[in-house]
Amino acid sequence: MAPEFRRFHGRRLARPLTQRRKELFEHLLPRLRIPLPEMGTLDPRVPFETPPADVWLEIGFGGGEHLAWQAERRPDIGFIGCEPFLNGLATLLTTIEERRLANIRLHPDDARLLLGRLAPRSIGRCFILFPDPWPKARHKKRRIVSAETLDWLAQAMADGAELRLASDDADYVRHMLDVTGAHPAFLPVRVGEEESARRPADWPPTRYEEKALAKGAASRFLIFARRPRG
Ligand SMILES: C[S@@+](CC[C@H](N)C(=O)[O-])C[C@H]1O[C@@H](n2cnc3c(N)ncnc32)[C@H](O)[C@@H]1O
Repeated sequence: MAPEFRRFHGRRLARPLTQRRKELFEHLLPRLRIPLPEMGTLDPRVPFETPPADVWLEIGFGGGEHLAWQAERRPDIGFIGCEPFLNGLATLLTTIEERRLANIRLHPDDARLLLGRLAPRSIGRCFILFPDPWPKARHKKRRIVSAETLDWLAQAMADGAELRLASDDADYVRHMLDVTGAHPAFLPVRVGEEESARRPADWPPTRYEEKALAKGAASRFLIFARRPRG
């Protein structure tokens, strides 16, 4: 079931958009925006010009560096990026235009509004990289990695599909391991302390990983898989 209310808690705009970026919002975003159906589910392959071999989803892509990197290397895959932060969205729109990336579509809002609408088994990989940590006890319920998000992902993800999670916040990493490890639809693939301290080769650094490195914080790169449905 799709969520009926809006729960995004971050800032939508940190600084004013330049004229160039405003133009991208007016002309490029409408062509790339995923239309959410009023009723029923969305087949996420439909918004792409050429039907992709698979659809991968990134939640909270920030400036979109990871998403653009993946999209450039895998033109056979359709990518959906969710990000309500408008400055980040504008950065990715600029990259899409400059690098002529044809295989990205966007949901410029709270990912949870899209998750409940995705057709079952339609997503082949999902990334949630360096989500806002919400360290204060009273804010922890705002964390995007939650049993509720995992329930929606469990429905939308195909059997064996990878769920990739990363954080430099030790408490959030523990939370990711606990909540995803306890979910019946997900299997741990690469979660051991040593192996998950290294980023796999097909996983580029994000801006937040670089910020973490600059302040000397260690990051963990976790991989789970959607358990095959019997
Ligand atoms: C700490 S930043 C990390 C950005 C990027 N993944 C990186 O590693 O550089 C977290 C991002 O998640 C986005 N975000 C927060 N809540 C979200 C939600 N409910 N749906 C989609 N994105 C969300 C924020 O706007 C922010 O850009």
